Formats: sequence, C-alpha cells, structure tokens
Amino acid sequence: MNMTNVTIREERQGDEAAIRRVNEAAFGRPGEAGVVDALRAAGQATLSFVAEQAGEIVGHILFSPVEVRREDDAGWRAVALGPMAVLPGRQGEGIGSALVREGLARCRALGEAVVFVLGHPGFYTRYGFVPASRYGIDSEYGGGDAFMVAVLEEGALQGRQGAVFYAPAFRDVT
Ligand SMILES: CC(C)(COP(=O)(O)OP(=O)(O)OC[C@H]1O[C@@H](n2cnc3c(N)ncnc32)[C@H](O)[C@@H]1OP(=O)(O)O)[C@@H](O)C(=O)NCCC(=O)NCCS
Repeated sequence: MNMTNVTIREERQGDEAAIRRVNEAAFGRPGEAGVVDALRAAGQATLSFVAEQAGEIVGHILFSPVEVRREDDAGWRAVALGPMAVLPGRQGEGIGSALVREGLARCRALGEAVVFVLGHPGFYTRYGFVPASRYGIDSEYGGGDAFMVAVLEEGALQGRQGAVFYAPAFRDVT
C-alpha cells in the first residue's frame, strides 16, 4: 500500500489528457478513453473523479446516466459506474478501492438510489455490488454475473425490473 498523499477529487478542466492516458494505459486500448471523452462532450459525465498524487493523475472513475426500461412502463433513470482505471504501475495499492468508495458516497449524497456496473465481479462485490439478475434486471450488453448493482437506498428496486440502457457513447467501445 502506498496511499500516502493520494487525493480523490472531482475532475476539473485541464485533466482531460491525463485521464485519457490513464484509461489507455489501464485498458491497453483507446476504446474506454474514447468513451470518457464522448460522455464528457455529451454532458453525460455525471460524476468524474481522479486520484492524484504529487500532481500526477494515477486513477480515474466515471459515472454516467442510464435508463432502466420495461416494455410496459416509461422507464426510470439511474447511474452506471464506468469506465474506471488505475495506472498499471499503481494497481493493487488501494487506489481503485478509494475511487469506488468515494464515488459511491458522492452518488448517495446526490440522492442516487442505485448504481449499476458491468465489470469484474471479484472486485466490485467488495463494495456492496451484487448481480443485478437477483432483482430481475439485465443490461443491453448482457454480462451475466458481471452486470451488478449497488442499492444505496433500501427498497429502491422493489417492483422495478427491466433492462438497463447505457448512454450512446458506450456503443463504439472496442
Ligand atoms: C480494476 C482496477 C480499477 C482496480 O484498481 P486497483 O487500484 O488495482 O484496486 P485496489 O488496489 O483498490 O484493489 C482492491 C482489491 O481488488 C483486487 N482486484 C483488482 N482488480 C481485480 C479484478 N480484476 N478482479 C478481482 N479482484 C481484483 C485487488 O487484487 C485488491 O485485492 P487485495 O485488497 O486483496 O489486495 C485496476 O486494476 C484497473 O485499472 N484495471 C484495468 C482496467 C479495468 O479493468 N477497469 C475496470 C473495468 S470493470
């Protein structure tokens, strides 16, 4: 662990290039960095946090709006976590955990009742995420047990089934 002096703060103007580099390095391809840029350009980067140490951005997490739809109702809005990334040389130090914890705390403070994620089950279940299928909810991208939800407000998913649709920016990720 080398979390000394790692600060989690909201993204600000001027961070864009560094956030791009962190995502490209962590994923080993440009797709996710492109999603971040496209969401920001579309005004759909609902919450964006960076982990900073000694002036360097070493991690990033993003939340964007999703819609949960069922054939017989108008649908409702929630948020989804992702992409998130930590520089390869800095993984395993607790930076990702700090980003998820701070991100979820902010979502809760903003009144978000549930947060979805499509990602590594072994990682996100540490922070309260459970398979969304447990609630009868799936994703437009499938995902099985890798598609998860964190319920921040008890009972928020009662009677609310359906499929989660992401912002259009996610469609082009390769
Ligand atoms: C996933 C990621 C963001 C985690 O960040 P991190 O800073 O390494 O996370 P932490 O150090 O807080 O790790 C917390 C724990 O989760 C574990 N963990 C990390 N990645 C994991 C994975 N893919 N699956 C299961 N467990 C994982 C770590 O081993 C660590 O376990 P420990 O506490 O027992 O040592 C980072 O590894 C990353 O950027 N990966 C590449 C991009 C990616 O996959 N992003 C997420 C897409 S869903």
